[in-house]
Amino acid sequence: MIMKQHDSIRPITWQDDHLELLDQRILPGEYTFVKYTDAHAVADAIRDMVVRGAPAIGITAAYGIVLSARQHYGSQPENWFTAMQTDLDYLAASRPTAINLFWAIDRMKKRAAELQGDPVPALLAEAHAILEEDIAANHRMGELAAELIEAGSGVLTHCNAGALATGGYGTALGVIRSAWGQGKLTAVYADETRPWLQGARLTAWELLQDGIPVNLNTDGAAAWLMKQGKVQWVIVGSDRIAANGDVANKIGTYNLAVAAKYHGVKFMVAAPTSTIDMNVASGAEIPIETRDGAEILSLGGKRVAAEGAGTWNPVFDVTPAELVDYIVTEAGVVARPSLDKMNKLISRT
Ligand code: MRU
Repeated sequence: MIMKQHDSIRPITWQDDHLELLDQRILPGEYTFVKYTDAHAVADAIRDMVVRGAPAIGITAAYGIVLSARQHYGSQPENWFTAMQTDLDYLAASRPTAINLFWAIDRMKKRAAELQGDPVPALLAEAHAILEEDIAANHRMGELAAELIEAGSGVLTHCNAGALATGGYGTALGVIRSAWGQGKLTAVYADETRPWLQGARLTAWELLQDGIPVNLNTDGAAAWLMKQGKVQWVIVGSDRIAANGDVANKIGTYNLAVAAKYHGVKFMVAAPTSTIDMNVASGAEIPIETRDGAEILSLGGKRVAAEGAGTWNPVFDVTPAELVDYIVTEAGVVARPSLDKMNKLISRT
């Protein structure tokens, strides 16, 4: 397993015969791994956000498929591939926006279709490969993106696009780790990221774990932060990038892109090519998950909103390509994305 400077967190691990996930619902108060031995429970863990973040969801689903194959090969060795389909459907229904989930399920299904005899060793090797390739992609993105960042820059990030959201190192936080390691950053700001507080709970925790100082700000403070000249870059991850370069990411990302354009702050999206969905022409076709309004009505498990208030809780938004300065992937950097440039990038993979 690749480990570099400022890189100590691995949220998904396979231990002997089972999957373990770092429970992100209770971080940073508690650091606890939960054990999984069947695919249904893995899908529930994705839906309930024990694990979250696009690449991490895909990797987790891949291990879920290993568990499914083991169970069905054990009970019906002649028919395990067909018997797995219910689990694949249940995994695919866990969350709708991150394309990495469907990408990983497809890749595992294709591998499974090639196998004779006990499928578990080969499927486990494939899931390990997905995990290791993701970490390697994050390191590569970190290198490529750090070259774009001028020394003396302040950066703002949103949600958690870090080690916790990937196999390790992170996409946006991988870029920040690399740029910090090269001494290029004066300050790192993180939006708290209402309502689930991925920024306050997860991004702040993981950067501090790895010795990178972080300043939390409320989501509403971001435009004012830019106005003060404290940040030169907004750096975020993505759940799905459309063929034209439109970017779906955590709700509030679009606000940042609009504010960044107004203030002349550069806007970078760091994502592996497994996050690119060339089958959707534009962001308008990306399914946007809406979650329970209870996430907005309460904070830390305590009701804060007035009784009787209604809610609207879309948890992702789409930033149009015209507001994006750079998409950084492990296969290369796309400046001011367009369909033509995305096609060229994908043809290199
Ligand atoms: O709802 P979440 O926490 O799964 O949303 C995660 C994000 O929006 C991340 O920014 C995105 O998945 C990129 S993670 C490398």
